[in-house]
Amino acid sequence: MSIAEKFVSMEYGPAPEDPREALVWLDAHARRFGHFINGGWQPPAAGQFFETADPSTGDVLARVAQGSAADVDAAVKAAQAALPVWQSLSPHARARYLYALARQIPKHSRRLAVLETLDNGKPIRESRDIDIPLVSRHFYHHAGWAQLLKQEFPAQIACGVVGQIIPWNFPLLMLAWKIAPALATGNTVVLKPAEFTPLTALAFAEITREIGLPAGVVNIVTGDGSTGEALVRHAGVDKIAFTGSTEVGRAIRKATADSHKKLSLELGGKSPFIIFEDADLDSAVEGLVDGIWFNQGQVCCAGSRLLMQESVAETLIAKIQARMNTLRVGPPLDKAIDLGAIIARVQLERIQRLVDQGVAEGATCWQPALPMPSRGLYFPPTLLSNVHPTSVVAQQEIFGPVLAAMTFRTPREAVELANNTVYGLAASVWSESLNVALHVAAQLKAGVVWVNSTNLFDAACGFGGYRESGFGREGGREGLLEYLEPMWFKEAPPVRPVTLAIDQPPEERVDVSAPPIDRTVKLYIGGKQARSDSGYSVEVRGADGRLLGESPLGNRKDIRNAVEAARKAESWAKATAHNRAQVLYYIAENLAQRGDEVAARMAAVVGQKQAEAEVRLGIERIFSYAAWADKFDGAVHNPPFRNVALAMREPIGTVGIVCPPEFPLLGFLSLVMPAVALGNTVVAIPSEAYPLITGDLYQVFETSDVPGGAINIVPGRPAELLKVLAEHDDVDAIWCFRDAASCAAAKSLSVGNLKQVFTNEGRAIDWFNTAQGEGAWYLEHATQVKNIWVPYGE
Ligand code: NAI
Repeated sequence: MSIAEKFVSMEYGPAPEDPREALVWLDAHARRFGHFINGGWQPPAAGQFFETADPSTGDVLARVAQGSAADVDAAVKAAQAALPVWQSLSPHARARYLYALARQIPKHSRRLAVLETLDNGKPIRESRDIDIPLVSRHFYHHAGWAQLLKQEFPAQIACGVVGQIIPWNFPLLMLAWKIAPALATGNTVVLKPAEFTPLTALAFAEITREIGLPAGVVNIVTGDGSTGEALVRHAGVDKIAFTGSTEVGRAIRKATADSHKKLSLELGGKSPFIIFEDADLDSAVEGLVDGIWFNQGQVCCAGSRLLMQESVAETLIAKIQARMNTLRVGPPLDKAIDLGAIIARVQLERIQRLVDQGVAEGATCWQPALPMPSRGLYFPPTLLSNVHPTSVVAQQEIFGPVLAAMTFRTPREAVELANNTVYGLAASVWSESLNVALHVAAQLKAGVVWVNSTNLFDAACGFGGYRESGFGREGGREGLLEYLEPMWFKEAPPVRPVTLAIDQPPEERVDVSAPPIDRTVKLYIGGKQARSDSGYSVEVRGADGRLLGESPLGNRKDIRNAVEAARKAESWAKATAHNRAQVLYYIAENLAQRGDEVAARMAAVVGQKQAEAEVRLGIERIFSYAAWADKFDGAVHNPPFRNVALAMREPIGTVGIVCPPEFPLLGFLSLVMPAVALGNTVVAIPSEAYPLITGDLYQVFETSDVPGGAINIVPGRPAELLKVLAEHDDVDAIWCFRDAASCAAAKSLSVGNLKQVFTNEGRAIDWFNTAQGEGAWYLEHATQVKNIWVPYGE
């Protein structure tokens, strides 16, 4: 046999990692764990435990406490009590604790990696070389943020007690992604690990004690979904951070709607892996091994949809099959194993069911003839080709080692196919032409795009989804903002019922000698004045009861038309930031020209003084956002690989804005201008106290080169129109700045497509105060960050 032949036929012998250290640790705890609350172990109040097993053998590893509402309550109380202690420390002191955690992880890396592999079934190579180093890196990075907190976020404050719920696919890594930024920003934590994989979180709890972290700063409560639910519902929790299925994410959105809990959701995905004909096909196939077979495909950002340019599809399929033949499935503690065990029987059955369904829908299933272990939960690497884009295997997250392959002809078709999903977590693009790759990356609706690479993560680069993959980011500066709130906002009082001019002192009322103004305004849709579908209108009266004019009552159909117009106005997002700034300046110029008449009309409702101030400040506010339009930039990150990650700020899409009633002009401009300045299109519902402002606004817009559909205005009954907007699947975000009930409705009605919701939480905002009424807080909500990773070097 020649050397070349030997090289091909070479076999790996078994190379098992020694599990002793982890087993000794389990034994030291008598293989039985309570919750970790207030710095110590506590038995479950109801005395119930459940088993956690090794999916590769079925052997029970330990018994773990099943958390009840009483346990969650004890943990939240401990976190509340620890909050003043933790917050009284200097940022530097908190940085030292995070640094200590970062240092301890590598010291315990062998035990942690083996525990992770035992509990989860993932190859030891992955837990040892990827998960654990990334955990440590996350704490290092956030030790830095803790140190810089006051300098970098001077006007922000921690949310308070944070409830964190994590899944089973990257148990310790997800813990790090959650706990590091929470602690760095001065929050205290109650974390619930997934029921299949609680062990590394418990090992971590012990490490927090070893480094002397003050008791109650980190609490770990184990249990199933019901424990998670109790945490979500607990009134003492100020923020929920969740990673897991979209279905549970939706339930959590609903359950937190009528509270002030801040929420971030990192949910499922169906990420495209796009290979162009000019790609380095061998590298792309190697990438694919990472993309879909990493962690047995149980990865939220797995490249589970293969999109191949038609001209290379046949070659690629052959190469992929050849590579699949060399994959090794087996005991995850073996260092030469590529695919370990599937987390649980229910997951294994789910994978099989979905594959069967895909085949029934016409897909061709191919699996390599690999030796498979005789016991344990394993699924072979699987290639489904000829998949129709509407097939269940092209649309649903399988969360297993199953690749669904499709073809495309042109880059445009690739983008269309890639975006043909409700998800938007990640994407991978392979082409030797940087022009093509970046052009495609820019058009993909996904939070992370890897060019000629896949599954790269770093603490400095935000990770998170578009659309139904959730909202909020983990990692980077934007990740920290999820755990902070503006100081003034936290203390803002609730909004008072609208004070119309009637409640104002007489000298502020309208000058009764002004000529009567009788006006009938229309809706403003697609750049045109439009009649309402219902034909109904309402009389608008001034403070003194005088009839000022009639305003149309928009309905469901009008909102639908407005949303359609907003969707069609995509060119606004593509316009250069300079162009958008120019249009905004022009709006300000035209408003200034009409300022006196606008104020005189509005004065009849809000009083002369307020009306004049709204116009004056409104012009200033437009100037501010015109200024920001070309300055609210992204960043370039330098992760510890040969990559740059371009953190691009992109508009969210179509934003439905329900304006505050009390400031008809300034409230409208304070919300609509930041949204449009950054390229969103808007459907706005103006103040019902003075809906006639619509007429003034569209006259200004019509003369200011605002493209049709970029801003649409539908006056009417806010509660009714909010419902239609929130339930509309083509609306990407809802901003609602009104009373607490409206804000709660905005959140709970928008669960369908998991819109990003931005509200005042029913709190009063002083729109005349620049620190409250404008700036980064609004701009951040008007954008989402997409990280495009671009490799360099040979
Ligand atoms: P899951 O979403 O039910 O579980 C994630 C976490 O949420 C666990 O800690 C669980 O105990 C908790 N949880 C469950 N119900 C809850 C509730 N009502 N309130 C609060 N917390 C709750 O995910 P599961 O059942 O483990 O997996 C089902 C499917 O979800 C998978 O097949 C996969 O498609 C997807 N998934 C996606 C993940 C991702 O990272 N995107 C992670 C895990 C699962």
